[in-house]
Amino acid sequence: MSHKLRLGINIDHVATIRNARGCGYPDPVRAAKLAVQAGADGITAHLREDRRHITDDDITRLCHEISQPLNLEMAMTDEMLQIALRHKPHAACIVPEKREERTTEGGLDVVGSFKTLQPFVARLNDAGIRVSLFIEPDVKALDAAHALGAPVVELHTGAYCDAPEGALRDAQFKRITTAAAHAETLGLECHAGHGLTYDTVKPVAAIANIRELNIGHFLVGEAIFVGLEASILEMRRLMDKARGL
Ligand code: PXP
Repeated sequence: MSHKLRLGINIDHVATIRNARGCGYPDPVRAAKLAVQAGADGITAHLREDRRHITDDDITRLCHEISQPLNLEMAMTDEMLQIALRHKPHAACIVPEKREERTTEGGLDVVGSFKTLQPFVARLNDAGIRVSLFIEPDVKALDAAHALGAPVVELHTGAYCDAPEGALRDAQFKRITTAAAHAETLGLECHAGHGLTYDTVKPVAAIANIRELNIGHFLVGEAIFVGLEASILEMRRLMDKARGL
């Protein structure tokens, strides 16, 4: 039996538009509430070190005002750890962060950063926050995530989405299916996200052992044309169809 796939909506880029003018609109918390009404199973927000989109105040408001779980994406820094421990979101997804990058460009180097990640993951686990590690679909990274005691991994789908259709994309897709199967043998809950669109979501949503997708940029862009609710409903429909529901 295929489990329903959870959809987490990333509202960062509503804040990007707001911050382009330095005023109060559009409000990402309003977008989060609308996303929940449209069927989102959770809200994802990345509090970047440079606060280029989501702000500290957005996180405070999201914690108090939304009825679905918050997944806080954050870099592995002391500042972010303190913020997570203070707010205690449902989940924290640890992502690599470089100031000069446009978006999260690759997965965490879980093998190379194992020693630094160990106490970090432990502090979040101890606080009852569900830790997710954003990693490349790679067996070694999964083994390291498992050894770190993280209950969840999120597979970076960026390389798959960016690859041209055909052999190159198929090869990237194979990495995702192999990694998702390996996650299951390790007992890790498997999520995926980054760069997904109506086209690229279908094969990923059909992978039965992936339990959650986190999607943002495409949906916020599509909302310009059809509205946020309609864009989320269409994504939901495509995911359910791929899942045979
Ligand atoms: N998951 C993670 C860990 C991310 O960093 C991002 C981008 O912030 C997403 C999912 C969503 O990616 P996109 O906005 O490209 O849909």
